[in-house]
Amino acid sequence: MSTTDALPPLDLGPADQFPEGEVFRVSAQDTGWSDDIAVVHAEDGGFYALDDTCSHEAVSLSDGYVEEDTLECPMHASAFCLRTGVPETLPALRPVRTHQITISGDHLMLHPGTPRPDQ
Ligand code: FES
Repeated sequence: MSTTDALPPLDLGPADQFPEGEVFRVSAQDTGWSDDIAVVHAEDGGFYALDDTCSHEAVSLSDGYVEEDTLECPMHASAFCLRTGVPETLPALRPVRTHQITISGDHLMLHPGTPRPDQ
């Protein structure tokens, strides 16, 4: 993964509009990215963003479930690590890409194409 395909950040609005433990889909039309992006407000209070399409089949991860530090696919239940995008359970084998999320003022900023810095 590289940062060379990074796109301009997108303001998602006030962070307090994203309830903890839930996942939201941000459209590729809005970001310019090659996939929709699943934005998660995790139970640890952190915000995470992953490519929305499961690496196993073409299923939207934002229809899935936030389980501690993973996002679980709604189809076959592979659980993708929110920090790395790596599947921790089968049947998915390949990671999904992560994207950086920052807070500016009280707004959530999505950085499509910029991987999480702690990855
Ligand atoms: S489609 Fe996601 S695990 Fe199978």
